[in-house]
Amino acid sequence: MKKIWLVAAGFFFSLSALYSQSPDDININHIFGVAVRQEKGMIAHLPDTVHYPRSLNPDGSVRLVGPSDWTSGFFPGSLWYTYENTGMEPFLYNARRWSAAISSMRYNTGTHDLGFMFGCSFGNGYRLTGDTLYRDYMLEAAHSLASRFNPVVGCIRSWDFGNWQFPVIIDNMMNLELLFWAFHESGDSSFYKIAVSHARTTMKNHFRSDYSSWHVVDYDPETGAVLSKTTHQGASDSSDWARGQAWGLYGFVMTYRETGDTAFLQQAEHIANFILTWPGMPADLIPYWDYMAPGIPDAPRDASAAAITASALLELSRYDPADSARWFDGASSILTSLSSAGYMAKPGENGFFILKHSTGSKPSNSEVDVPVNWADYYFLEALTRYRGMVKTNNPPEILGGVPGRVFAGEADSVMIMGLDLDENDTVYLSLAGAPSFAVLHPAGQDSAWLVLHPEKDDIGEHTFLIRAEDRRGNISEQEVSLEVADPFWKNIRITASSWQDPNVPGNALDGDLNTRWSAEGEGQWIEFDLDTVLWLRSVSIAFYLGNTRNAYFTIEISTDGEHYDKVYYGTSSGTSLQLQEFVLGDTLQARYVKIVGSGNSQNMWNSYTEVTFGIVYYITGMQLHAMNEGSFMLRSFPSPASERLYVEYAPATAAPLLFTVHDLSGRLLLTRKISLTDPGKESLLVLDISSLDKGIYYLTATQAGKRRSGAFLKR
Ligand code: GLY
Repeated sequence: MKKIWLVAAGFFFSLSALYSQSPDDININHIFGVAVRQEKGMIAHLPDTVHYPRSLNPDGSVRLVGPSDWTSGFFPGSLWYTYENTGMEPFLYNARRWSAAISSMRYNTGTHDLGFMFGCSFGNGYRLTGDTLYRDYMLEAAHSLASRFNPVVGCIRSWDFGNWQFPVIIDNMMNLELLFWAFHESGDSSFYKIAVSHARTTMKNHFRSDYSSWHVVDYDPETGAVLSKTTHQGASDSSDWARGQAWGLYGFVMTYRETGDTAFLQQAEHIANFILTWPGMPADLIPYWDYMAPGIPDAPRDASAAAITASALLELSRYDPADSARWFDGASSILTSLSSAGYMAKPGENGFFILKHSTGSKPSNSEVDVPVNWADYYFLEALTRYRGMVKTNNPPEILGGVPGRVFAGEADSVMIMGLDLDENDTVYLSLAGAPSFAVLHPAGQDSAWLVLHPEKDDIGEHTFLIRAEDRRGNISEQEVSLEVADPFWKNIRITASSWQDPNVPGNALDGDLNTRWSAEGEGQWIEFDLDTVLWLRSVSIAFYLGNTRNAYFTIEISTDGEHYDKVYYGTSSGTSLQLQEFVLGDTLQARYVKIVGSGNSQNMWNSYTEVTFGIVYYITGMQLHAMNEGSFMLRSFPSPASERLYVEYAPATAAPLLFTVHDLSGRLLLTRKISLTDPGKESLLVLDISSLDKGIYYLTATQAGKRRSGAFLKR
């Protein structure tokens, strides 16, 4: 199944999703729809394919890591799962791209994390494509991992840093999967023996009598004796670090799968029981970062531990008939929580990660209550497993970024898709309440092209619905807001004194109130070159956080880009996120409009989500062109004109219409009143202009207080 990108950069519209019947709690169509949007957005923001998004920095920027980081495999791994579930080819292409650089780690014998790094990236790649290059590299990585095995201890050494002699952490159970895989693939039983030895030794030394686990067990590398049992990322040596419990569960379920040894299955059941019956476990089953964290119930959670647990419980439910329902229900409850608004991001938010609220290492105050890439990976893995186990029934998820702004006289088209993973259903797409310039052309069993071809008369705001219906009658609808804009706006060039990535100047003119230009400090400015000298009536600005603080700014204008006049000293209302209009006057000429910021009532940031201009009229070549507040059509020809000016108009209402002609100094020269007008009907008026001197004049039509103006040239 071939799918192309469906999300146009920058514009996301899912204002309302209305379901015809109550969907499953775990709406896999919606969740993978979010994954598609977030991963697409993440890819668009990554600098190259050798940096991997790991989490968010305290300042909100994406923390990038290289291939050697223990988490490098998770982002490509998530792309593999999204490809596997949606069949959308760009995810295959990008999963390959972000897997590639990890190959450089295959000879790295300095870490136990090769299982994570290679299994999640190349392991899924090999499973889904059969590419033997992936296989060869993974086998080499498995050799590197096996080199860390100490037969006296019976374990693989986890870390090479710190003051331990031979530290083994519970997380290391996860890396055994690469060794089991290598045994199956190569027939070399040493991989198998190492993995089983590590699992047995861990089962013996890492667990307390209640089947909770210590994080770090330090061994004497000469004798194999246990030297200490401590924590590194947990609250205390005797506490239960949440992710450690999850790694242990997952590791022993996997080891049972690979060995068939029921001792490992029983171990997994005991751990699962410990997790699910922990008295302090929150009702939503998303654990605190440590079961004994200080400050409970206000302690940060670790959604990643929950995602790992859910994936492991789903697998456990298949091996344990007696308690199958219990493990499955536990996993379902976790997935229901994780896919709720409390934990799953809205598209475009959360730094383009999927899940919120994970904790990396609380004791070192690193990655506390943030998105992390391994939470997303195990969430998608769990959902992939879930899909394979139950028949789901969800309304289709409508995918496809509709451009927020289309220019009159131009055509635009976007692919719309009704994502339905339930039974790979046929999805019927349709439009409701759409203007005649918007048409759907079917493009496959679940996709269609939305073609937009507006004309001048369509300039303005349009709202309509895209509707998707599957064969079982599940319907979802998505509201689309579309602005048909005058092509004039396209020619505006934007510059700024500086900006804070990714809040670039262009964000102030993209028709999207969710993006912004931001620059910190007194005198930071953003400038708009309107391409030609215009009559500027007003500047409208929408401010970031405009409903919580007052922004201070001045507006300077110039006709030549050299000499500027300060024409406005402004303070925003402090009560609105919408555009606020600042009227400059009717007779200011400007080509360059510079907004100079002086911070706001809370700090020195200058942040504008959108800027628009109230233009009174302008001349393109010698053609008259009007574009201001009147919604009625006004057009005149010829230009230049000598004796007569023909004026075409279509009134908006039945109110009387007044036509006036002024010269450049504003002197009124002609008036004509039409008392009986016919709303919407195109009419023609002939004005005798023989008495006018040679030059430029303004023609204005006024109806019910609304004005529409243009210029014409008298020959
Ligand atoms: N293996 C590293 C962690 O779970 O944080």
